Amino acid sequence: MTTWGMGPLLLVLLLVKMQNVLVLPQTRKSMLSECSQIPSLLQVSYTSWFLDAFNYAIATNMDVLNLSIGGPDYLDLPFVEKVWEITASNIIMVSAIGNDGPLYGTLNNPADQSDVIGVGGIDYDDHIASFSSRGMSTWEIPHGYGRVKPDVVAYGRDIMGSKISTGCKSLSGTSVASPVVAGIVCLLVSVIPEARRKDLLNPASMKQALVEGAAKLLGPNMYEQGAGRVDLLESYEILKSYHPRASIFPSILDYNDCPYSWPFCRQPLYAGAMPVIFNTTILNGMGVIGYIESPPTWHPANEEGNLLSIHFKYPDIIWPWTGYLALHMQIKEEGAQFAGEIEGNVTLKIYSPASRGESGPRRSTCSLQLKLKVIPTPSRAKRILWDQFHSIKYPPGYIPRDSLDVRNDILDWHGDHLHTNFHIMYNMLRDAGYYIETLGSPLTCFDAQQYGTLLMVDLEDDYFPEEIEKLRDDVINTGLGLVVFAEWYNVDTMVKMRFFDDNTRSWWTPVTGGANIPALNNLLASFGIAFGDKILNGDFSIDGEQSRYASGTNIVRFPAGGFLHTFPLLDSSESGATQNLLQTGSLKEDPAVLGLLEIGKGRVGVYGDSNCLDSSHMVTNCYWLLKKMLDFSSSNIKDPVLFSKFVKRYSPVTVDDKQLPSRRTDVNFSTYSSVIGKELICESDSRYEVWGTKGYNLHVGGRNRRLPGYRGIDLGRGLNSTVENTRPTRWRPAKEGGELSSHRSKYLGGLFNKDEIDIPFLVATRWIVPAGVAASGILVLLSLWRFRQKRRRRRRTSGSNRLA
Ligand SMILES: *[C@@H]1O[C@H](CO)[C@@H](O)[C@H](O)[C@H]1NC(C)=O
Ligand SMILES: *[C@@H]1O[C@H](CO)[C@@H](O)[C@H](O)[C@H]1NC(C)=O
Ligand SMILES: *[C@@H]1O[C@H](CO)[C@@H](O)[C@H](O)[C@H]1NC(C)=O
Ligand SMILES: *[C@@H]1O[C@H](CO)[C@@H](O)[C@H](O)[C@H]1NC(C)=O
Ligand SMILES: *[C@@H]1O[C@H](CO)[C@@H](O)[C@H](O)[C@H]1NC(C)=O
Repeated sequence: MTTWGMGPLLLVLLLVKMQNVLVLPQTRKSMLSECSQIPSLLQVSYTSWFLDAFNYAIATNMDVLNLSIGGPDYLDLPFVEKVWEITASNIIMVSAIGNDGPLYGTLNNPADQSDVIGVGGIDYDDHIASFSSRGMSTWEIPHGYGRVKPDVVAYGRDIMGSKISTGCKSLSGTSVASPVVAGIVCLLVSVIPEARRKDLLNPASMKQALVEGAAKLLGPNMYEQGAGRVDLLESYEILKSYHPRASIFPSILDYNDCPYSWPFCRQPLYAGAMPVIFNTTILNGMGVIGYIESPPTWHPANEEGNLLSIHFKYPDIIWPWTGYLALHMQIKEEGAQFAGEIEGNVTLKIYSPASRGESGPRRSTCSLQLKLKVIPTPSRAKRILWDQFHSIKYPPGYIPRDSLDVRNDILDWHGDHLHTNFHIMYNMLRDAGYYIETLGSPLTCFDAQQYGTLLMVDLEDDYFPEEIEKLRDDVINTGLGLVVFAEWYNVDTMVKMRFFDDNTRSWWTPVTGGANIPALNNLLASFGIAFGDKILNGDFSIDGEQSRYASGTNIVRFPAGGFLHTFPLLDSSESGATQNLLQTGSLKEDPAVLGLLEIGKGRVGVYGDSNCLDSSHMVTNCYWLLKKMLDFSSSNIKDPVLFSKFVKRYSPVTVDDKQLPSRRTDVNFSTYSSVIGKELICESDSRYEVWGTKGYNLHVGGRNRRLPGYRGIDLGRGLNSTVENTRPTRWRPAKEGGELSSHRSKYLGGLFNKDEIDIPFLVATRWIVPAGVAASGILVLLSLWRFRQKRRRRRRTSGSNRLA
């Protein structure tokens, strides 16, 4: 066996400036957890400082880089593109995934990038450390589906290290798990003979060795542990006989392997459902750039496998070292009665340009194994559709948190997805026998006859007129149930919540409230329902269940014949977010917060607060209430307490239009919206038959018709895959503000002779790759120059206030 020499252990240590400022979650922070024993510090740093450090790493030919920092802003363009440049320059970047666990949807950037090795933390009992951030990645929401992250986990709790002065100290956090992996990477580098390093070693081959060698832990799912606990010896064995190749991570999706395959294994596939999306990562150890040689193909292992139809999506160019392969899976109509398993493999051919001294391109076939479970299509009453499309989250804009009591997490950034911060609700609904599907496209893109209830929770976006019209028809004529959980919305409070952001040198104001009440009121107008602008708080009890109303809204309009519940809650809207919510003004009349209504063939339930469904900052859950509302909306089962004659309205509750909350006029909402200024179109998260169309038409003679206007997809194509060649992700421009980094030019001026060195030159000489890559590299750099650099403050916390 080769000796374990200490390899080129080159860790970039970044200086961080101490500064006492308002702490914002979009800044990057160190990943030491609350358990760390060093005194509590608050440290802040800017994007430009990181760019300086990364440039230094490139200029000095570093091999491995540990990064124990991160933040939720994956749209910090200069930063993200610099990370691409780092990995494209063949520097292996290992980064901490974040300490925002056990909450889901809390991955930090850059660890969430496919070209970076993202590391989560475990304790010595091989349990995921509670602080370790959980997946999935949220860049892809609402239309797509997140990738599996972290890549691996390593010990990160009570790790002994040396003090700067003398002796030892114990530290906890993904901050310490990451350097453990960086150390392992360095050891692995050292076992490859130096002559072969350049050829064999790169961010993809290293990640392949780590994830293929990792030991899967029993218990945690793939969005908690990735491939599992890092294993030095196994990874060594893999690297020892490594030949450049491409692979898919994860390499298997097995519905029998629960809970590892959560959330997939929690709900079998069935005909008629929205496509189930599985977004895998392509690791290409053959070269920094790669291409798909032939479209992916599905090879069923048995006859039943033909019942599965898969559409694939993947980028044109796999760069740097990594890409994605997304599967959209749908069971064909002829499988509507089928129950059983489907097995087979998806294969994909990839090539990279020849390396120096090679005559032809490098080729590799990679494979993804599928073991799926299928059941007959469940009854309509058991099927729920979750509206993801109208959800907007940070980072594209200042989307404020839903509970104003939560002071240390001011932005809504966990994805608001069934498999992120609503994951416990998802499990609960599955346990209750419901099947729940996700809609990432407008409301015209689903067939209402398939579903018992459309569930709309904590939504920030607006609605197309076609959506409003179709939903009215779906409920009244098609008998669709509708359940809405709203959130606070108060313009005065929003204005008070603004702050000056040091990074962008600009004022930040929430672009909407916890939910977009003016938009929801538009949607619900057809049913005679409207919400107000109070921000209500308090505990109440209904049906023997204790509940906390945490910054919810009130119902101000409701038709006669419905059932409306009022409770003595306190309104804190006037006081704004900064004052003690419970001390301020109370109402003369108890506000209405829960309403239930039969209308036409359908049923509607509305509740003013979503906090009791959201695992992220929940005080008490209201799953019992959700279940009773769904029993009503889907099956017309009426709970005797919720439908008591004492809460029945014999006259409507009304309010003047002028008293309804109004839209903000000072915010250009189209910047954040998928509706305003956009075209109505069904994306590839909807059923294949409506992809690229405007969706289903209104109810016509008992059948839904597809809306005209767009080319439909030929359903008869069976196993043929639709290939959408998308360019590598393009980024929206960084926010205005800040000036072009003087840091970087100063830095370069200091280190090099300015006339001799220019970034594009530096990059081009490092990449011995075809013009295509050089072009993309230059593009990347051009955009770096073009976008005025956003100065990002990054903070570093440790000690007892990891969130503060
Ligand atoms: C990487 O890990 C080392 C060793 O624990 C640590 O000192 C350093 O701060 C980390 N680097 C960054 C950039 O966080
Ligand atoms: C899969 O992930 C990639 C990388 O984040 C993303 O660009 C793509 O849109 C995702 N695709 C789907 C269908 O989720
Ligand atoms: C699928 O791949 C697995 C693992 O690579 C292999 O064992 C199996 O034989 C393959 N099955 C088919 C149908 O190709
Ligand atoms: C609002 O933003 C959109 C795109 O972000 C832009 O096209 C439009 O001109 C803006 N409108 C105003 C009034 O600034
Ligand atoms: C796949 O598509 C091609 C070309 O569009 C067509 O000729 C072929 O019949 C299709 N195959 C199947 C199985 O439908």
